Amino acid sequence: MGEIKILPEEVKKLIAAGEVVERPANVVKELIENSLDAEAKKIEIETLQAGKRLIVVRDNGKGILEQDLPLVIREGATSKISQVEDLYQIETFGFRGEALHSISRVSELYIASRHFTASRGSALLARGGKIIDQREVAHPIGTTVEVRNLFYNLPARLKFLKSNRTERKHIQETVVSYCLAYPEVYFYLEQEGKTVIDLEPSSVEERLVKLFNLPSTPSFAAAENSLGKAEIYYYTNYKSAKFYIFVNGRPVKNSQIQTYLKNKLGYRTLAALFIELPPYLIDVNVHPKKEEVRFIRERKVLELIGSLFGKKEQIPTPADFVLKQPTLEKYLNPPKEELSPLPTSVGFQILGQVEDTLIVAYREGFIYYFDQHLLDEVVNFHLLGDESKACRASLKAGQKLDKNQMEELLNRWLEIGQPRTCPHGRPIYYKQPLEEIYKRLDRKTPRGFKV
Ligand SMILES: Nc1ncnc2c1ncn2[C@@H]1O[C@H](COP(=O)(O)OP(=O)(O)O)[C@@H](O)[C@H]1O
Ligand SMILES: [Mg+2]
Repeated sequence: MGEIKILPEEVKKLIAAGEVVERPANVVKELIENSLDAEAKKIEIETLQAGKRLIVVRDNGKGILEQDLPLVIREGATSKISQVEDLYQIETFGFRGEALHSISRVSELYIASRHFTASRGSALLARGGKIIDQREVAHPIGTTVEVRNLFYNLPARLKFLKSNRTERKHIQETVVSYCLAYPEVYFYLEQEGKTVIDLEPSSVEERLVKLFNLPSTPSFAAAENSLGKAEIYYYTNYKSAKFYIFVNGRPVKNSQIQTYLKNKLGYRTLAALFIELPPYLIDVNVHPKKEEVRFIRERKVLELIGSLFGKKEQIPTPADFVLKQPTLEKYLNPPKEELSPLPTSVGFQILGQVEDTLIVAYREGFIYYFDQHLLDEVVNFHLLGDESKACRASLKAGQKLDKNQMEELLNRWLEIGQPRTCPHGRPIYYKQPLEEIYKRLDRKTPRGFKV
């Protein structure tokens, strides 16, 4: 008999769960993100013994339906993705449906919630991933998650944790970064019964001053290029170097940007950098805990950050970028308001029109099929604020369009923030990864092509 044994499936899953959740601060992060995804305006966090004994996260978000409650701890259970194509354009934090599942495997998990449509609350108790009890409870609209005895069944993981002091620090760091990313949300953190953070909704500046005890408000700069936008708040007389980086509202790590800022602003700088980029340029999947972020066009992103500090932008406009100013009058009669000049429209290459109904275009690894009527309608709805007026004002299926008209339609849609559905909830486009097409053709994805 050899020495190598295959671990039973149950043990493998347990270890995997312990890898997703390495320390109490990871649990706090996942729970905060769930609360934010649920559109909570107030998030309260309490921990005991640095989160090893207890982590409570309470929110006033939209809540969980009673019948969904047992599902949330199932592997891959998520309300945030319905189609594979959604994977390519994720706007919420969670999407793998693995956080609560993993947490439930390595702790005693209690979730109480009331959905905003429900007249009562319900609660679920699980231990080691198994549901022990479910019952009705009184609960305000929103959700409370309690994680007890984290890693009770993974003693090795428990031993790996640092002192309570250090683990508490990690939790504070996590909460601080969300306080900065969501200044409009009320945050409260209590550790070992002591209030550590208690912040009413305010601004980033105010939060920096309060959280770091700054004697004056930090400096501010903003920049924009064809990729996206950046904003930075910085204070260069801090006691150490501290850089918070956020991409589309998500706290991330990126050592390149961090080093860049340190060189630019000095080693005694406290800064919060906010970058807004179209989701398809962000590769969040490199790190299992989704912290380290990679950009599809790293150099341009750095250029954008550089321009915050007065560097000239020298960014060529690729020929296939749709950058033309829309002339609205053609489609609208009459427009209620003027559109502002096109900000950062991003590269669609229009391929043509099909059956006088669909606009087919290419962008960054995807073929898009737009419904021309819905594309126009959503913009008109945005401008007119009235569904039926918008519908009447919009061009119909069966109408021939030339390339300029198609470009205009796309530009206007880009400008209102690329909504994915029309006022009635129908999808405006369907997009197909080119990778999939290459696969079907039994062809390798071209080198350097990255979705
Ligand atoms: N605080 C919360 N408020 C409302 N729904 C929640 C909350 N936490 C979790 N959920 C629900 O549970 C599901 C599973 O959560 P999670 O395991 O973190 O996976 P994910 O966030 O990747 O979807 C979520 O998709 C959501 O529907
Ligand atoms: Mg989640």
